[in-house]
Amino acid sequence: MTTNGFDEQALDAAYRKALAAEKAGRTEAAATAYRACLGIDPDDHVGARLRLAALGVGETPSSAGEAYVTTLFDQQAEAFEDILVGQLGYGVPGLIGETLARLGFEHFDRALDLGCGTGLVGTVLDGRVDEMLGIDLSENMIEIAFDSGAYDHLYIGEALGFLEDFDEPEPFDVILAADVLPYLGDLAPLFSLAATRLAPRGLFVASTEALADMAGDGAAKGANAETGFAVGSDHRFHHGESYVRAALERAGFELVAFEPITVRMQEGEPAPGHLFVARRTGG
Ligand SMILES: C[S@@+](CC[C@H](N)C(=O)[O-])C[C@H]1O[C@@H](n2cnc3c(N)ncnc32)[C@H](O)[C@@H]1O
Repeated sequence: MTTNGFDEQALDAAYRKALAAEKAGRTEAAATAYRACLGIDPDDHVGARLRLAALGVGETPSSAGEAYVTTLFDQQAEAFEDILVGQLGYGVPGLIGETLARLGFEHFDRALDLGCGTGLVGTVLDGRVDEMLGIDLSENMIEIAFDSGAYDHLYIGEALGFLEDFDEPEPFDVILAADVLPYLGDLAPLFSLAATRLAPRGLFVASTEALADMAGDGAAKGANAETGFAVGSDHRFHHGESYVRAALERAGFELVAFEPITVRMQEGEPAPGHLFVARRTGG
């Protein structure tokens, strides 16, 4: 046992077994070992639920889970910008900055960056926002965002919980989420909570990874018209365009823009996605 409350050695052994079986194409054995991981660690630090879903043998979870996201990004924080931006050409924060400027949204009073990571969005919007808040599950990512100097306030926590519980009633005129929705499957709770925190006609700006383009070997398993999202072979959630549009409308948003983008390179190929700018309707 460790401070995490589970047997880390047993988890490590089961996880290695699962990865080896998956690599060898032994899906049943891999699934058994991933289920063993969940038996040892129900909080799922290794992301076994995502892997089962990607194998097509487990239910699609509604999110990647806090334990997995925190572990993954705490590990990746230091190398994040070198790998993602430098090697894989990740450019969503820059696209957000360009798109908002092109649409005539030059200045914001109060912005909230959900899943702010190392602070790339804050850096792009620096000088265009009076008060910039950021929130992320990963303490190591937040430390780098802090060093960027682009945020007035930073919080370590889960995005939906933050939107629900944040005790400052003052609304935001923009809420941003760059490359965060791939860690959230069911978008309805996020969209409704974001709407409650926005000023009337406030903007919600976010990127997704596209579902329709997942084809052939990279096919997302379990994708269907009912859910509109699925876990891809990259272990991230991919969202269908019509699903995202309908979920925004249901949460009280009208679309200002919904554009195809390349999120980054993935195994030498452009990873397709969407960038949307939605405006809260009603009073
Ligand atoms: C791919 S990174 C993107 C970071 C940043 N938005 C950017 O564009 O560079 C995804 C970030 O979202 C955070 N994240 C994912 N799910 C989250 C959640 N439910 N609540 C808070 N942060 C989350 C991760 O910890 C990670 O820092």
